[in-house]
Amino acid sequence: MARLNLLEETRYEKLPVTVYSSQAEASLAVAARIAKLIKSKEAKGEKTVLGLATGVTPIGVYAELVRQHKKEGLSFKNVITFNLDEYYPMQPNAAQSYVTFMNENLFSHVDIDRENVHIPDGTLAKDKVAAFCLDYEQKITKLGGLDLQILGIGRTGHIGFNEPGSAPNSGTRLVTLDDLTRNDASRDFGGKQNVPTKAITMGVGTIFKAREIILMAWSQKKAPIVKKAVEGEISGDVPATFLQLSDHVEFVLDEAAASSLTRFDTPWLVKDCSWENGLKKKAVIWLAETVDKPILNLPKKIITTMVWPSLP
Ligand code: F6R
Repeated sequence: MARLNLLEETRYEKLPVTVYSSQAEASLAVAARIAKLIKSKEAKGEKTVLGLATGVTPIGVYAELVRQHKKEGLSFKNVITFNLDEYYPMQPNAAQSYVTFMNENLFSHVDIDRENVHIPDGTLAKDKVAAFCLDYEQKITKLGGLDLQILGIGRTGHIGFNEPGSAPNSGTRLVTLDDLTRNDASRDFGGKQNVPTKAITMGVGTIFKAREIILMAWSQKKAPIVKKAVEGEISGDVPATFLQLSDHVEFVLDEAAASSLTRFDTPWLVKDCSWENGLKKKAVIWLAETVDKPILNLPKKIITTMVWPSLP
């Protein structure tokens, strides 16, 4: 289905992006959408099937859902969850396991039925993994598919643990983690040497089948990969770019994570700018870099109007 893109300034963006002034505000908005979905399905006597992510990114969303459960009676009795991934091998009671993460951040604080919680099993023998992965996919399918999948994005462009090279139609499987992903996880494990080299993850294809997909990203650290995912060409080198093919995906960003998108980084390319706050200088530096010339070799008119009015 074609996407209606009415804003000229977003023309480099190949999927819908919503930018919030802070991570806290964005997290509240995503939690509100999840709560609304749960309540509307509950009202119809239906269960909500959620795809969940771990990591730093969704912590504020889970905190708000817990708050709504405790203060506003939001119930998880009719919620079924499937987590994206788990390290392999991994014991569920280990501090770094995604089972521990989900218990600490959500499940131990809400009224979810434990039988409705699904997280890839990091304790399986290698020869049991393939059958487990197939069963994980089938369970999701039998329940009618994921209503909503929430995602973070790794600096490699991974979604779930679908690292560069992953296929758009990949299913749940055992994968090898990218070196950068293991670096980013090293603090949690007290050194990179302790980070597992593998993980079980839902595939890009599994994620793609969800009826709604929300990818969240916060902070400057994510800005370069967010730009590639939103504005770059679709490629297995940045698996998140496959989301451009979905007509039910939305990226939810804070200002820092959105800062490298064209409309914020080089706004003069896509809209009329109010030339304040150093924007003129930024534009001149950008121009000099783009045409690969020293600033003083740019046409004098540009330098006098943009940076140095008193140039003799
Ligand atoms: C976690 C997951 C990963 C993370 C990503 C971002 O279940 O699937 O794709 O979402 O690595 O991690 P954070 O949020 O820690 O920056």
